[in-house]
Amino acid sequence: MLKAQVALVSVFLCAAVSTRAVDRRCLRELPLQISQIWKSAPVQRRTDGALYTPTTENYTNCPGATLRCFAAEMKVLMKEWEITNVRLSLSNALNKTSRRFQQPDSDCLHCELLQEENGQTFLERLTEVVQMMNSQFCKKAAPSKRRRRG
Ligand SMILES: *[C@@H]1O[C@H](CO)[C@@H](O)[C@H](O)[C@H]1NC(C)=O
Ligand SMILES: *[C@@H]1O[C@H](CO)[C@@H](O)[C@H](O)[C@H]1NC(C)=O
Repeated sequence: MLKAQVALVSVFLCAAVSTRAVDRRCLRELPLQISQIWKSAPVQRRTDGALYTPTTENYTNCPGATLRCFAAEMKVLMKEWEITNVRLSLSNALNKTSRRFQQPDSDCLHCELLQEENGQTFLERLTEVVQMMNSQFCKKAAPSKRRRRG
């Protein structure tokens, strides 16, 4: 009974405020932003750089630490590629999202111990992790019964 009410209320909220009711770890716009960064990268330097690059496996074990690492390394990459038009919003979004995981990361190794990769591989890995997050956290926004939005 209560469960049904809660469900009804969340359907209502979902309809009322649309995507705002979704888990804040759902980062729907990020894959697009990442591809914009890729397009802004100076062509000759796309495979330059050595950035500490987490994997989806690292994300599964240590989501918070992994996102903080991506955030810090993204700042490095922006500087290396001299990208100023997107400012630091992407890095900040990752940093902010890292705090939404409750999992303690005392057992997580430091970013500096991860494999170093070039800018292209770094962005590919980041995209994989964001897609993994989105498949975990964006679900509620796409109920099969309501197709109004898409
Ligand atoms: C992440 O946010 C914290 C707290 O605001 C800040 O101290 C830290 O420098 C940020 N890290 C990055 C990589 O921006
Ligand atoms: C990150 O994942 C790689 C394999 O994907 C693994 O070899 C490495 O030990 C992991 N590092 C941390 C800090 O979890």
